[in-house]
Amino acid sequence: MKFLISAGPTREKIDPVRFITNYSSGKMGYALAGAAADAGHETILVSGPVCLEAPRNVTLISVETAAEMAAEIKKVSDSSDIIIMAAAVADYRPIKVHSEKMKKGSGNITLELERTEDILASLGKIKHPGQILAGFAAETNKLLENALKKLNEKNLDWIIANEVGGKNSGFMSDENSVTMLSADGEKIVLPLENKKSLAVKIISVLTSGK
Ligand code: PMT
Repeated sequence: MKFLISAGPTREKIDPVRFITNYSSGKMGYALAGAAADAGHETILVSGPVCLEAPRNVTLISVETAAEMAAEIKKVSDSSDIIIMAAAVADYRPIKVHSEKMKKGSGNITLELERTEDILASLGKIKHPGQILAGFAAETNKLLENALKKLNEKNLDWIIANEVGGKNSGFMSDENSVTMLSADGEKIVLPLENKKSLAVKIISVLTSGK
């Protein structure tokens, strides 16, 4: 099968030396890509800026911004059987990108931000029969309630809910715990473990009906 997986953060430029981003290390998405490739699937990984090596047998496409990630994903999404959005895509970007380094003054400044494209929601609108679309929900509260909302609103087959904001799971850590919820009402709880072994289980669930 053909997998398309996204990973890492995006960077949204303010000026040539500053940007808006988040704490995603890419570990979860890279672990998923490695697990998919190890299971014999053709795997494309679209990644924001991270300090990780591409897993074996994975085609890596490196991007920086949400717009670049959206463009690269759309080039290959139609021919993908299973798509997993593990990237932490910035929801907002500065409206104005300064061409020179901004000089500081004595007062406060305000950055005006605009929405980026919700890549996963766009994929949900053009999903074709038989294609499996999975997203992650990164939540600090009401984990399953918020995750279910994303599953339904973005027309997904699976949402993989993880708590973020703590030390031992979610962003940056080597371990994670997730609850997978399907559009068919399945609920699979995967307790805390290394992201690499967790990824093997997630890939196995996503391919089980195929
Ligand atoms: O990279 P690590 O340090 O290993 O951390 C892993 C992780 C916590 C980043 C990962 O497990 C995770 O939760 N990824 C999704 C982070 C996120 O952006 O969650 P969200 O709930 O804000 O977004 C929901 C879904 O919409 C996600 O699949 C996201 O990729 C997608 N999205 C969000 C915004 C946007 N503009 N476009 C999107 O496609």
